[in-house]
Amino acid sequence: MTVDNSELTQLKQQRQTRQQIEEAIIRNFAPEDEGLCNALTSAKEAGLPEIQISPIQGKLLQLLAAACNARKILEIGALGGYSGIWLARALPAGGRLISLEINPAHAAVVRNSFAKAGVGDRTEVRVGNALELLPHMESDAPFDLVFIDADKTPYPQYLEYAMRLTRPGSIIVADNCVRSGKAFLPAEDEGTAGIVELNRRIASDPRLTSLVLAMDEDYTDGFAIAVVKYA
Ligand code: DHB
Ligand code: MG
Repeated sequence: MTVDNSELTQLKQQRQTRQQIEEAIIRNFAPEDEGLCNALTSAKEAGLPEIQISPIQGKLLQLLAAACNARKILEIGALGGYSGIWLARALPAGGRLISLEINPAHAAVVRNSFAKAGVGDRTEVRVGNALELLPHMESDAPFDLVFIDADKTPYPQYLEYAMRLTRPGSIIVADNCVRSGKAFLPAEDEGTAGIVELNRRIASDPRLTSLVLAMDEDYTDGFAIAVVKYA
């Protein structure tokens, strides 16, 4: 199969246009300040994978936090603290973000980046396996927003805890729920199976209004977003 020159030129132009649109949206609505840039640099220096959310996704999390009047936010999977900074900055005075992280060394990087970004006072990084921490979080609930972005195999269990720890009107977001379309097909590996099952559940659970949005620059991955209608 060949792509002739004019088609190739057209594809390149489309790609460039998409990039320019994305840059303009970021410049106008989701610019990264020193705190966010520092979190990226620190995470990279600590050897963490560069798989954090995009600035547009960060701003979408803030928008969703505002929409549900979030005062308490739970993050499952802190990675380098980048998404946590976006989330924590959406909180009003007295608000709280609890971020669960399995790796103690990564948690130390995250705490440092939270402090440097000016959100150290309203954030807590809890170290441990989320499946062991979540059963003991009843006293921290209800959370207004839960962001799931950790290992993919237990995504359905994370969703179950998220439902248990929220209230009607709360919003649950999960990252990586498109996966180049694999998130909607019979799964070939455990991690993808977790995502497929989460999508299946949020699509059919009458307690939720849900949508998956492909939103990265190549339209290959994105958020699942679910609003809790009733408990
Ligand atoms: C992976 C995990 C993520 O949360 C992500 O956003 C991208 C990739 C991964 O495990 O490969
Ligand atoms: Mg992710």
